[in-house]
Amino acid sequence: MGKPEQFWDKVAEKYSRSPVSDEAAYQKKLKQTQQCMSSHMRVLEFGCGTGTTAIHHAPHVAHIDAVDLSNNMLDIARDKAQQAGVSNITFHQGTLEQFNVESESMDMVLGLSILHLLPNRDATLSKVARILEPGGVFVSSTACLGSSMLRYITWLTPLGKLLNLMPDVYIPEQPQDAGFRGTQCP
Ligand SMILES: C[S@@+](CC[C@H](N)C(=O)[O-])C[C@H]1O[C@@H](n2cnc3c(N)ncnc32)[C@H](O)[C@@H]1O
Repeated sequence: MGKPEQFWDKVAEKYSRSPVSDEAAYQKKLKQTQQCMSSHMRVLEFGCGTGTTAIHHAPHVAHIDAVDLSNNMLDIARDKAQQAGVSNITFHQGTLEQFNVESESMDMVLGLSILHLLPNRDATLSKVARILEPGGVFVSSTACLGSSMLRYITWLTPLGKLLNLMPDVYIPEQPQDAGFRGTQCP
C-alpha cells in the first residue's frame, strides 16, 4: 500500500480525461462561487487536482494559489493553465498544512472533493479559518453518503486500498468547531 500521493500520481492522467459526472451541477457551482468573487481577491484552492476549477475561476480574481499533493496532477494543471492562457495561478505541491501562508491573507479558500480524503480534517479546517480574512469565504463540496452506503464504504475502502483501486477515505465523525464565524456571500 503506497502513500496517497502515489495513488493520485498513478491516476492523474486518467482523472484528467474523465468527464465531470454532473456537468449541470458543476456549472451551477462555478456560477455560485463566481458570484462571491471579485477582481481584487486572493484565492487558495487545496486539492486542486488537474486545475480545471482554478482555471475557470482565474479570470474572476486577482490570484489563485493552487495546492495539491500529486506532482502528476500539478504537471497536467500547469499545462492546462498554459494552454488556456491563464497566468494568475501559482501551483504548489503539498498539503494545505504544509503550505506556508500568513493568517488572514486569503479572501476565499476552495476545497472541492477533498475533505473526505484528509486524515487530519479538523486541523485543515482550522487552518482554513485562520488564513481567511475576516468575512472571507470558504467554498467546499464533498461527497455525502447516506447511512446505508456508509456501511458498505467502511469495508469497501480497505479492500479498494489493498488492491490500489481507491485512496484512503476518512469518514468524518462530528466536526469540531474550526473557528468559522458566520458570514455569507451575496
Ligand atoms: C478527488 S480529487 C479532486 C480534485 C479537484 N478538487 C476536483 O474537484 O476535481 C482529490 C485531489 O486531492 C489531492 N489530495 C489528496 N489528498 C490531499 C491532501 N492531503 N492535500 C492536498 N491534496 C490532496 C489529490 O492529489 C487529488 O488531486
